[in-house]
Amino acid sequence: MAEPLLSMSGIRKSFGPVKALRGVDLTVWAGEIHALMGENGAGKSTLMKILSGAIPADPGGSIRIGGTAVSITGPSDSRRMGIAVIYQELALAPNLTVAENVALGREARRGAIIDRARMRGDCAAILERLGAGFTPETKVGSLSIAERQMVEIARALSVNARILVMDEPTTALSSRETDRLFALIRQLRDEGMAIIYISHRMAEVYELADRCSVLRDGSYVGTLPRSDLNAEALVRMMVGRELSDFYEKQHRSGGGAEVLRISGLTDGRKLRPADLALRAGEVTALAGLVGAGRTELARLIAGADRAAAGEVRLDGRPVPLRTPAEAIRAGIVYLTEDRKGQGLFLDMSIEDNVNINVLAADAVGGTVRRKRRARERVAEAIRSLSIRAPSAAATTGSLSGGNQQKVLLARLLETRPRVLILDEPTRGVDIGAKSDIYKLIDRLAAAGAAVLVISSELPEVVGIADRVLVMREGEIAGELTGAEITQEAIVAIATAAASAV
Ligand SMILES: Nc1ncnc2c1ncn2[C@@H]1O[C@H](COP(=O)(O)OP(=O)(O)OP(=O)(O)O)[C@@H](O)[C@H]1O
Ligand SMILES: [Mg+2]
Repeated sequence: MAEPLLSMSGIRKSFGPVKALRGVDLTVWAGEIHALMGENGAGKSTLMKILSGAIPADPGGSIRIGGTAVSITGPSDSRRMGIAVIYQELALAPNLTVAENVALGREARRGAIIDRARMRGDCAAILERLGAGFTPETKVGSLSIAERQMVEIARALSVNARILVMDEPTTALSSRETDRLFALIRQLRDEGMAIIYISHRMAEVYELADRCSVLRDGSYVGTLPRSDLNAEALVRMMVGRELSDFYEKQHRSGGGAEVLRISGLTDGRKLRPADLALRAGEVTALAGLVGAGRTELARLIAGADRAAAGEVRLDGRPVPLRTPAEAIRAGIVYLTEDRKGQGLFLDMSIEDNVNINVLAADAVGGTVRRKRRARERVAEAIRSLSIRAPSAAATTGSLSGGNQQKVLLARLLETRPRVLILDEPTRGVDIGAKSDIYKLIDRLAAAGAAVLVISSELPEVVGIADRVLVMREGEIAGELTGAEITQEAIVAIATAAASAV
């Protein structure tokens, strides 16, 4: 075919004063996996929202499909042209079955009656093609995130999509699930689909992409073929400069006094009673496979879930942790892995979000002083975490995904925690911001905080942790310190049971 399947050119989009896209080009061929990379706020999601008809582009640009100029004024246009977009926050109805979700909005009908048998049959055929391990009758609410993603893909196939967009699809998947997703993506590519794949993970892009296009600051930087993909080139294109000292440890390993001790802590279900101690000035990582119980344990420590038994001591004194508010008052702060549910107020400004936990502390000293403190705080947060925003007054909902994550982190840090629990703190953030977050973790440890980091990215664990606790099937199965901390050692402990059976 002489014509690319999709060619977008000169696409522009402003949100008020923010120029999200300044004339972006993107050319994608049938039968290719095309990665789209760029820093947080570079404009990736905005470009894909325009393609899907979720938002209109500003006048001036053009979109061609199979060589023909098209106008996309709404989601139904893009669907008709064979474009399907899977967003990171999946949009399925949990109470409906898989078949109902796949057909949602365009149910097969016989007269006025929905033809359920046909709906199920069509769906079953697609699930078989995908090699799914569930049936059309399964309720979506009972599926894992990976399986729900498969339902979204099934939805795309059921409308004969030719262009499939996936916006950070693997952030919530285990490595095995990711492997399965990749196999599926390759299969679809080989069948002639064009896949546009957005990710911040270099390793994934090397593994998967036939070509990779890079955006920076709303502009198109360039496209590399698979053979030219390497970290140096990509980082230069994304960031516009070389990134040095990706992680350089400043705090002293080994730690100081014991700050937090938990004993026999359990949820009474999945978690075996757990014991662990965190020391001041130490970064401890909680590693393990997805599903090993890391988040469950963190939630108990942080008061997000009620423990069935066990005790948490802070500085030797037992603390009741029945709610996150009690934990925060005690100096234990938790960044959850669930970005959406963790209480960023999307209608409120960045400034108000960052300051919300510390307003009470500012109440003394009068309004003027309080306002000034709040302004200084947010300015410092924006600087130290490189939050990309037009101003501190911008609404948090208008920020890109990764920048929202940074606002949340800034808010938690304002409480000057003694114990900081971070669940996948760099998920969805770009490579420059990652190193900012690592530096911040290091600085907090150097200032005496006890830090517990949950991470599924092994290089990250090896880079930042003084000590690694590896969880497996609901219990802490091993501990590594200093030079023992290697990716191989962590994997060996995390998977020991699985390989024994
Ligand atoms: N509804 C909106 N209102 C105002 N500004 C917006 C809106 N949506 C996006 N923006 C801005 O447009 C720019 C591009 O955002 P976009 O979400 O496309 O980035 P991204 O490349 O997907 O980043 P990330 O990797 O963090 O997801 C950002 O500066 C963002 O703040
Ligand atoms: Mg995005």
